[in-house]
Amino acid sequence: MINNPKQSIGIGLIGLGVIAGQVVNVLIDKADVLAEQVGCPLVLRKVKVLPQDLSRPQAQAMDSQLFTTDADEFFATPGIDIVVEAIGGESPAVEYLSRALSDGKHVVTSNKEVIAKHGVELLTLAQQHGVGLRYEAAVGGGIPLISPFQRDLLANNISGIYAIINGTTNFILTRMARDGVDFASALNRAQELGYAEPNPRDDVEGIDATYKLAILASLAFHRQVRPEDIYREGISRLSSRDFQYARELGFAIKLLAIAKQSDESIEVRVHPVFIPEDSLLAKVDGVYNAILVEGDLVGKVLFFGEGAGALPTSSAVIADVVAAAQDVILGIGSKIRWGAQPGKGIKPMSEIKTRYYLRLNVADRPGVLAQIAKVLGDRLISISSVIQKLTDTAAQTAEIVIMTHPAQEKAMKQALEEVAQLTVVEEISNFIRVEE
Ligand code: HSE
Repeated sequence: MINNPKQSIGIGLIGLGVIAGQVVNVLIDKADVLAEQVGCPLVLRKVKVLPQDLSRPQAQAMDSQLFTTDADEFFATPGIDIVVEAIGGESPAVEYLSRALSDGKHVVTSNKEVIAKHGVELLTLAQQHGVGLRYEAAVGGGIPLISPFQRDLLANNISGIYAIINGTTNFILTRMARDGVDFASALNRAQELGYAEPNPRDDVEGIDATYKLAILASLAFHRQVRPEDIYREGISRLSSRDFQYARELGFAIKLLAIAKQSDESIEVRVHPVFIPEDSLLAKVDGVYNAILVEGDLVGKVLFFGEGAGALPTSSAVIADVVAAAQDVILGIGSKIRWGAQPGKGIKPMSEIKTRYYLRLNVADRPGVLAQIAKVLGDRLISISSVIQKLTDTAAQTAEIVIMTHPAQEKAMKQALEEVAQLTVVEEISNFIRVEE
């Protein structure tokens, strides 16, 4: 039996947005259950807000003494054991987290950008000061991921992660596939429903997914994978025609975050892919997230659930708070951190090997396909199937779709440059990698 010297555990909260607001609700609504788990009550001692947060109905309903807009006052508040940060963005969040850890406070954050970019330095700081840094809510909302990688999957050599980790883009792609609408209209709907931000760049360009993959890959491969190590393409260049062809060929289109490990190197990328329509990930629709992990012992494990939203995210934040509170009582800090050591190299994108889908607009006359096939053949790219569908008789153009066998990215990029130079080729409308 642990002798608990503390009467309560003090929480300092940074932010009062939708996630932080829900964290406050849970601390109040589930106070008894949480106190039972921890061994003493969790008490909210101070909330660092922006002036505009004070007019929120939730703030108005709370004791005004709890709030401060001044960071120095927040950090000087006595009795804070755990700082919970839920403001998002890189700065000032990273400065706040560094300050909290340096002050010997345990930290819980939902901030994927800060963890992806500064995880190693923050985890090192936490270790130096004998405290913990927890970030379960940073990836996949309420889906347990960080904890399984740190504990349950530890005995595995992880060979691959294949993840739908951005709900906004998965919602957009699902609408494009189901309703045949174009990207702009699907994005518009996502914005109307509040899934996509007014400025959707981080989601639709794959930046959000890149932060999340950087965190998962660092945990899985026990080495630091930085966001800039990850090859990234967004979904804005996809057209409804790509979805029609994908369906005809037996594929779904998803924005996948992929991390693979071989004996020599690590491969990390975020981009749209064709995946077989009967695969598990192809069936993950709407705003849901799913993360498929392959380990040498465990085989394939699929994590599925709501990857965003106040309720699921608060589930992960509060679990971290309870774990941190238990550590406060035990007087221990983080034991697990990513190595900053370089480890295996990151495979350059030019060296990856996949199958490709190509959609081209070409002149509709004899010998055109032969010219394209020759360029591909000269680069050892083998064609597996060809479709010709749309023929504009007036303009004498046709749309052709080529599926290839596995080929090296470098060869494919060179071939595409050469194909684009052919006078018979009006446009390379799209090319999408295939993941099987
Ligand atoms: N914007 C993210 C998504 C949720 O659409 O999944 C926050 O990580």
